[in-house]
Amino acid sequence: MDTNLLNWDDRAELHATDRTGSYRIENVLAGGSNLYELETREIGDFFGKDIVHLQCHIGLDTISLRNLGAGSVTGLDFSPRAIAAARVFASKAGSDVRFVEAPLYEAVEALDRTYDIVYVTWGSVNWLDDVFRWARVVADLLRPGGRLYMAEGHPLMFQCNRKAAALELKDVGERL
Ligand SMILES: C[S@@+](CC[C@H](N)C(=O)[O-])C[C@H]1O[C@@H](n2cnc3c(N)ncnc32)[C@H](O)[C@@H]1O
Repeated sequence: MDTNLLNWDDRAELHATDRTGSYRIENVLAGGSNLYELETREIGDFFGKDIVHLQCHIGLDTISLRNLGAGSVTGLDFSPRAIAAARVFASKAGSDVRFVEAPLYEAVEALDRTYDIVYVTWGSVNWLDDVFRWARVVADLLRPGGRLYMAEGHPLMFQCNRKAAALELKDVGERL
């Protein structure tokens, strides 16, 4: 956890000053979105809902959810530099999104309220050592009738270069 926190503090600084355009920073600051089409399509009705974005990194997706019509949005991350960057972005965007610095396993105590939707995406749960403990946190953050939206990728997939839209299964025959 300690090493991972140092890793994310480093990456937060790098990502917050991204010049490649992959974080669509200017778009989010201008009231737009950094979400993929997949997420906006799948998440369902979130207009006016209270959302908590766990492991929100530098907060661009968190601000995007508010820009797209969520009622209130809170982002949580354990990296002080990620949360500092997220707060700067929220202030530049004139957004009322709340950002809380806390480890995931302490989210219930740190946030001290419940939500309609818990939002978790891309490269989050792979950093945790106890998925059951994570699920308990998610359940405790949800109001009755609330729901989890999750879009994740397999860590192995993140190590591969993307060459085509479809995943092709090669015949590895006897070797399996
Ligand atoms: C790949 S990023 C997630 C990206 C995110 N979905 C977004 O909207 O950009 C992973 C994040 O998890 C955070 N993280 C990793 N372990 C954590 C923990 N135990 N508690 C809270 N945050 C954690 C890191 O600081 C990092 O910001």
